[in-house]
Amino acid sequence: MKYLNFIYYEELDSTNEEAKRNIENINDFTLLLADLQTKGKGRNNREWFSPKGENLYFTIVFKPKIEIKFLTALPIIAGFSMLKLLENIIKNKKIAIKWPNDILIEDRKIAGILIENFKERIILGIGLNVNTERFPDFKTNIPTSLKIETNTTFDRLLILKNFFKIFYINYRLFEKEKKIPKKLLKEINEKLYLKNEHVTVKFKNSIESGKVMGINEMGALVLEDNILIYAGDVKKVRRGSK
Ligand code: BTN
Repeated sequence: MKYLNFIYYEELDSTNEEAKRNIENINDFTLLLADLQTKGKGRNNREWFSPKGENLYFTIVFKPKIEIKFLTALPIIAGFSMLKLLENIIKNKKIAIKWPNDILIEDRKIAGILIENFKERIILGIGLNVNTERFPDFKTNIPTSLKIETNTTFDRLLILKNFFKIFYINYRLFEKEKKIPKKLLKEINEKLYLKNEHVTVKFKNSIESGKVMGINEMGALVLEDNILIYAGDVKKVRRGSK
């Protein structure tokens, strides 16, 4: 198992931003962890709720050994590792992976992943809601946490350690095969949110729609008629809406 360099901050704007500012001084496989983020970032310029002392906000920085073109599957590898971690903690609830990398427990988001490429390094930022009991008013996509789901308070560092163990094993397998390994892909597709549903996928100014068939070995979302999508935000098409 790889030795992980670890830097702890009481407060940061964002662990991803700190990783980028400090990139020249950061060794391969360094994890930056903050107790509080004042400007936690989500995908598509959204904010990530990051109150002090409650949850996990961290970024893993590493240099991939494979070409960038293979990294389309990395979000799925990270999301699937999070799903496996959560399955070890939460029993009897359905945990799903929403392409590309949100983790949902019975429709509520518990973890989010923001991956950036910067100076040949991967900046893998992960937020996991651990001990938050109440979230501010979210109108859509209501979040949840481990505490809300299990009524238990968790040791965040222990969870972080377990996540890294799972992620590292999956990442090495992926790096070796340059695609999502078959066994993992089967399970990912079994646990894929909105499988067989009709969705729209928005990316910048374009929009695609169709029935979700699954995720392929490169991490693309496959819609009916073999439409492959590599980036975007997925929404379920409600009955009666066009
Ligand atoms: C999303 O679901 O939109 C992605 C959320 C990513 C949040 C994490 S928290 C640690 C890291 N630092 C950030 O500012 N964002 C990521």
